[in-house]
Amino acid sequence: MSAPGIAEDNSAESDWLAVDQYLVDTLLGADPSLDHALAANAEAGLPAIDVSRTNGEMLGILVRAIGARRVLEVGTLGGFSTILLARGVGPEGAVVSCEYEPKHAQIARSNIDRAGVGDRVDIRIGAALDTLAALADEGAESFDFVFLDADKENNANYLERSMALTHPGSLIVVDNVIRRGAAADPDADDARTRGTRAALAWLGADDRVDATAIQTVGTKGWDGFAMAIVR
Ligand code: SAH
Ligand code: DHB
Ligand code: MG
Repeated sequence: MSAPGIAEDNSAESDWLAVDQYLVDTLLGADPSLDHALAANAEAGLPAIDVSRTNGEMLGILVRAIGARRVLEVGTLGGFSTILLARGVGPEGAVVSCEYEPKHAQIARSNIDRAGVGDRVDIRIGAALDTLAALADEGAESFDFVFLDADKENNANYLERSMALTHPGSLIVVDNVIRRGAAADPDADDARTRGTRAALAWLGADDRVDATAIQTVGTKGWDGFAMAIVR
């Protein structure tokens, strides 16, 4: 039974897309820097796996809500999410973003500079596990906010390494933990699904964090993110 005036949920992906577009039009409006970044990414042949606009703006709001000044991102791609995180930290803040592919880093650098936030973004090229270890070795100032959005196989390792790079109250967001229900599907057993299960199990078991997860629908289909706060 549905509530009066509310349709039964027989929604399809095309509806989720239309609603995301409606939300962008109503809440956010056009953003030439972000639009340009997506066009430049497509032109350069990067995969269109950036966060959606609505989800990316939510990351920016979370960064501002906790007053984060230092953000660590794993998975830069063309810098779409990086621009939103960099806006969130403000002119005195800093974003360190880890990217394995030099070509992605180069496109991201150009998109981020063009968006006017280049001075606060450091893109570190290399395997993120190595970069996180190097940041800890360097004694890098601790991060207030961490966004994990690269190879899902390593997410539990990224979480473990984030413990040395954060402080009580730091917020950690992990993208793509639902992936059309794969984690909870007993028939799904690919490497990414195993990585996602390992990350969720880590979040559930480790006493250093409190965590939850949110399922989402939208331009990227049925997915979701986990969110953890360092105790
Ligand atoms: N956060 C971006 C999307 C990232 S897509 C956005 O929302 O706009 C994932 C990126 O992680 C890709 O660019 C990929 O090259 C990178 N990546 C994959 N494995 C990696 C690794 N081991 N270390 C660093 N980057 C990696
Ligand atoms: C993929 C990766 C992502 O980070 C994402 O948000 C969507 C898809 C992928 O590798 O397919
Ligand atoms: Mg993602």
